[in-house]
Amino acid sequence: MIELVCASANPDKAAEMAEVLEGRAVLLPRPDGAGEVVEDADSLEGNALLKARAVCDFAGAAALADDTGLEVDALGGAPGVRSARYAGSGASYADNLARLLEEMHYFEMPQRTARFRTVAAVCFPDGASVSAEGVVEGLVLAEPRGTGGFGYDPVFAPDEAGGLTFAEMAPAAKNAVSHRARALRALLAMLEKPSVP
Ligand code: IMP
Repeated sequence: MIELVCASANPDKAAEMAEVLEGRAVLLPRPDGAGEVVEDADSLEGNALLKARAVCDFAGAAALADDTGLEVDALGGAPGVRSARYAGSGASYADNLARLLEEMHYFEMPQRTARFRTVAAVCFPDGASVSAEGVVEGLVLAEPRGTGGFGYDPVFAPDEAGGLTFAEMAPAAKNAVSHRARALRALLAMLEKPSVP
């Protein structure tokens, strides 16, 4: 089975990644001492590659990273690639969620459409890399609901979940439709394809 070193330092993401990869790839823990990666690229793909490359070079083995953004139509696609630091550098999940709800205050349905987009990337020790994208469309609710998931999950209701937020869904139900799971499954399909001799 494919072995990938986890390049994400976020335990919430790593747990979801491990669940989605289960049975198809082994996710090895992020090595201690890999250091923090400055995510200063201007795209999700750029940041995913920065993280995967740094950990691949440190570990000397194939490494997997994801970078995710919430794109809100009424906010011109914000917070997007800045989702982790929407309320400032070092902002908590709660800080970012509060800023989002504040910015969305004047928008009613159906102007609250949004999507999560993830780019997942694997970098290899020989310098090669592959990446794949996953998207889920949904709505940003005015009030948080649910206790599961993380980040913006309590206010994001995917179109395919009958009105539930990601935070109200069991992990397996989130993984059935989520941006991250879609990106990872697309990436696995690429990695599992037999290479042309
Ligand atoms: P990054 O991909 O590490 O830059 O993280 C982007 C930010 O988006 C995180 O800090 C979370 O706040 C949020 N985020 C990422 N993935 C999810 C998700 O699956 N659900 C809700 N929020 C997420």
